[in-house]
Amino acid sequence: MSFTVAIDGPAAAGKGTISRAVAAHFGFAHLDTGLLYRAVGARMLDGLDPVEAARTLDPEALERGDLRAPEVAQAASKVAAIPEVRAALVDFQRAFAMRAGGAVLDGRDIGTVICPEAAAKLFVTASDTVRAGRRFRELSDKGVETSLEDVLAEMRERDARDSARAAAPLRPAADAVILDTSRLTIDEAVAAAIETIRTRQPD
Ligand code: CDP
Ligand code: CDP
Repeated sequence: MSFTVAIDGPAAAGKGTISRAVAAHFGFAHLDTGLLYRAVGARMLDGLDPVEAARTLDPEALERGDLRAPEVAQAASKVAAIPEVRAALVDFQRAFAMRAGGAVLDGRDIGTVICPEAAAKLFVTASDTVRAGRRFRELSDKGVETSLEDVLAEMRERDARDSARAAAPLRPAADAVILDTSRLTIDEAVAAAIETIRTRQPD
C-alpha cells in the first residue's frame, strides 16, 4: 500500500534533515526533489537547454558532486520557473510517491501539485536569518568560501523567485501542518514531524 508524506518549505528550513529522519523512522523511501532541479540547473550551466536537460535527466545526474554549490542552487531556481521543465519531472516524482511501503518527498510543490492527495503534509519553515546561518555553517564545513551576507542574499533571492513564479509557486498547501523550526533542535523538529505523520497512519 502507498503512503505519501509531502514536506515542503523554503531554502535550508530543515526539509531534507527531517525527511531523512522520518524515512528512517517509518521505513519509507525518500526523494529530495530539489536535487532534480539542481541537476537540471547544473546541466544548464554546462550549456544544455534546460527543457532538453529535464526531459533527458537520468538518475546518475543526481549523483553529481557539485549539486550543493550556491551557483547551482540559483540555476535550479531559474530552471524551476519554466513550466516545461517542471512538467518533464512530474511522472518520475509521482511514481516515486506511489511506491509500495511509503515515500517521503521534499521540495516546494509536493503538497500542492505533485501529491495533492498525500496522507501527511508538512510545511517546514524558519526565519530567513536562522536558515541562512544554518546554510552558511553547512557550506563552511564543506570548505566552500562564502559569507553569511552572501548566503542570506542568495537565499532571499531564490525564495522570492520560488514564491513569485506562476508555475507551482512555493506556498503551503491548505491542509499542511506548519512546522517552524527557528527555535527547535533537529531532534525536536523530527519528533514533531513524526507525531504529525503518526496521527495520519491507518491503525
Ligand atoms: O532541506 P533543506 O534545505 O530545507 O534543509 P536541510 O539541508 O535539511 O537543513 C539545513 C541545515 O540546517 C542542516 O545543516 C541541518 O543540520 C540544519 N538544521 C538545524 O540546525 N536545525 C533544524 N531544526 C533543522 C536543520
Ligand atoms: O536545499 P534547498 O532548500 O536550499 O534547495 P532545494 O530544495 O535543493 O531546491 C533548489 C531549488 O529547486 C529551489 O530553490 C526551487 O527553485 C527548486 N525546487 C522546486 O521548484 N520544486 C521542488 N519541488 C524542489 C525544488
